[in-house]
Order: sequence, then structure tokens, then C-alpha cells
Amino acid sequence: MYWVYQRIQGTNWLMLEVVPQWVVLKPVLLIAIGGALGAGIILAVVTSFFVRRLNQRLKPILDQCDTLIETDIDRIQRLSLQSNDQATLESQLALSIQGKDELDILELSFEHMANQLQASFEELEQRVEQRTAALTAALAQLKQSQLQLVQSEKMSSLGQLVAGVAHEINNPVNFIHGNVSHVDAYAHDLLNLVHLYGKHVPNPPPDIQAEIEAIDLEFLESDLEKVLQSMRMGTDRIRDIVRSLRNFSRLDEAEIKDVDIHEGINSTIIILQNRLKAKSDRPAIEIIKDYGSLPLVECHAGQLNQVFMNILSNSIDALEERDRSRTLEAMKEKPSTIRIWTGKSGKNAVTIRISDNGPGMSETVRSRIFDPFFTTKPIGKGTGMGLSISYQVVTERHNGQLWCESTPGEGTTFVIEIPLRQGENILPQGECMAGAK
Ligand SMILES: Nc1ncnc2c1ncn2[C@@H]1O[C@H](COP(=O)(O)OP(=O)(O)OP(=O)(O)O)[C@@H](O)[C@H]1O
Ligand SMILES: [Mg+2]
Repeated sequence: MYWVYQRIQGTNWLMLEVVPQWVVLKPVLLIAIGGALGAGIILAVVTSFFVRRLNQRLKPILDQCDTLIETDIDRIQRLSLQSNDQATLESQLALSIQGKDELDILELSFEHMANQLQASFEELEQRVEQRTAALTAALAQLKQSQLQLVQSEKMSSLGQLVAGVAHEINNPVNFIHGNVSHVDAYAHDLLNLVHLYGKHVPNPPPDIQAEIEAIDLEFLESDLEKVLQSMRMGTDRIRDIVRSLRNFSRLDEAEIKDVDIHEGINSTIIILQNRLKAKSDRPAIEIIKDYGSLPLVECHAGQLNQVFMNILSNSIDALEERDRSRTLEAMKEKPSTIRIWTGKSGKNAVTIRISDNGPGMSETVRSRIFDPFFTTKPIGKGTGMGLSISYQVVTERHNGQLWCESTPGEGTTFVIEIPLRQGENILPQGECMAGAK
């Protein structure tokens, strides 16, 4: 209940009235309810407008999420096929999606995307590493091929040069060699004539007598034979060298042929003669040939000669290097020697052992000598390709084996084993030597 009062106009009187509560609050309540309803309706309209707008914006993202989740399902199914645990994985995925609203799915998708991104980065890094390793290997291979090309080009140019020089020398030397026998015969005829003349004219006129004394006919007669003999030896020597040069270059024999291995080794030794002979600071390096009886061997003669050349040059390098720090007495006491042994190994192969009594090498060096570019020589002296190319020539081109045995302070032996016929493998034999293969 409320008390209500009002002044009565024109009097000093107040009118007091008792009014029930609902009569006073009714309009206030009506206004409040009306206002709340109006505000509620406006709020609902605005909210639904915003929700619609938000849904419109979210729809493409949610569609993407659906696609992602489908991809995920696919991936999981693929994985499950591999792991044979499909039931578990599918139920895991179902569990992760079940009962989720759009925002949950959105969150799930972002998480999934983040994982995928992480996985992609890891995969990318892995691929980059793989590619880098492949590229590094390709680069090393390329470098090796390049050097091999340079080396074989060098050898082929050297071969052409050697063959050219040998050819040019061969013709004039043959004239000289062929004519020496004629000169010999003519000189003998002339001397016979002089003798005959002397027999019939024992007292020649004084000017002829004076000429006989001036040319010292007696000495000329005895010396002429020696001169002709040394000319014959000289031309024989030149013809040998020319034959060796041509044999070494073997330009005419690029293809595989039946070859006398000893001929190849001998030619190589003749070419290296200048390096083997005595120098001002050291005696000559002695070559000991311990040749067995070998059948002809089917091979690329020119390439095999390069192998002999590389191995023999290395031995000479090693022996020369050691002599740099030896006294003359020490050199005479233990002369530098290279021994070449050949023989048949088993039924279908030949073995060539080239040993020097040089400084030898440590196990660390020995294990790396066939690596491309490995060298212990100063820059400019060695490329480190000699033995790696030799290894390739023996093992790949000739189906053979090349290995090295070395003892520091005692010397080094290179062993080459090649089958008599190409296309055949070397049959195993009782004795098997371990080496840096
Ligand atoms: N007979 C030997 N005695 C001692 N060390 C040797 C002998 N033969 C080879 N070596 C070692 O093996 C290394 C590799 O030899 P390789 O012939 O491949 O290269 P290189 O002689 O150094 O250079 P190049 O390319 O000019 O031949 C040599 O640097 C040397 O250290
Ligand atoms: Mg070498």
C-alpha cells in the first residue's frame, strides 16, 4: 500500500489517499517489460545478422577444413594400409572429429595444418639434404671424369706426338741403316782397288806417295771398319728406340689385341731410360727383369703401357726422393733397384709384379693410393690421378686386379693380374694376397 497526498487548489488543505501497490507499479512494470522485450528483439535481430555474416565469412574456411580433414582421412587410411592397423587409426580420427562444432573443427584443422607444415618443412629439409648429397657426389664424379679426360687426352696427345716423331725419324734412319751396308761394300771395294794398285805399282809417283802419307792410309783402313761398325750400332739403337716409341703409343691398336706384355714393359723402360740413368748426385737405378714365359695376352696394349709407365714412374720418384737424403756410400751399399717379375697365375691369367727397394709407405698412405687426387707429392709435381686411372684400366677395362704391398723402409710392390682372354674372370688360385683393392 502507498500513501498519496495532493494540495487542494485555493485552500491550505491536503488530500491524503491510500492507494494499492499494484496501481502505482503497473505502468512502471509495463514500461520495463516493454523496453526489455524491445531490446531483446533488437538484440536478437542484430545477433542473427552478425551470426549470418560470420557464417558467410567462415563458410569457405570451413569448406577448406573439410577438404583438409578428408585428405587427412585419406592419409591415415594409406598409413593404416601400410601399418595394418586401420581400425585403430580410423577410430582415433573418428574420435577426434566426433561431437565437434565448427570452431572445434577449425581449431583441429589449424592444428592439423601446423603439423602438416612442420612435416613439410622436415620433408623439405630432408630432400634438400638428399639433393645436396647427390649434387656433391655428382660434382666429385664430374671432377674425376674431367681429370680422367684431361689425363687420357694428355696421353693421347703424347701418343700422337710420340707416334709422329717416331714416324718422322723412322724414314731417314732406315735410309741410313740401309745405306751403311752399301757404304761398307763400296769402301771395301775401294780399299781392294787401292791394294791392287799398290801391288802393281809398288813405287807410286811422289805426289801419290805424299797423299798416302797425308791421309794416313794405314790408320784409315783400320779405323774405317770401326766407324762403319759404330754407325751400324747407332742406327740399330735408333731403330730400337723408334720401335719402342711406336709400340708405347700403339695408336694403331686402340682395340683389343693379342699382345706380348714383355714388349710393352721393355718399351716403357726405354722411354724412361733418361730418368733411370746415373745423375750427378746419384748412381743409376738398376732394372732387374725376371721375366717368365708368358703367352700373348688379349688387352688394350696402349692403356696397359700407361699403367706400367705410372707404376714405374712412381717407383723412380720414390727412389729419387729417398736418395736426396742418402750419402753416396749408402747409395752404393744399397743401390736403388726396380725388379719386374712376370709369370702365369693359375690357368687363365698373368701376373706382373713391379717392386722397388725404396722408402715404402705407411698403412694410412697405402690404403688411399688408389683414391682419385690422393698424392703425397708437392703441388705441381703430382696430381694423384696416376694410380686411380691405372686401377680403373686394370680392373674395369681388363677385368683384372691391381693391388699394392708395402713395408716402410723396405720397399713397395705393385701386383697386376689380368686374364689371358677378355670376358673371362680370373680363376681363384691357392695363393691370395690381401691388398688395397
Ligand atoms: N713406389 C712407391 N713408393 C712409395 N710411395 C708410392 C709409390 N707409388 C705410389 N706411392 C704413393 O702413392 C701416391 C699416389 O700415387 P699416384 O701415382 O696416384 O699419384 P702421384 O704420383 O702423386 O701423382 P701423378 O698423378 O702425377 O701420378 C703417391 O703420391 C705416393 O705417395
Ligand atoms: Mg704417379
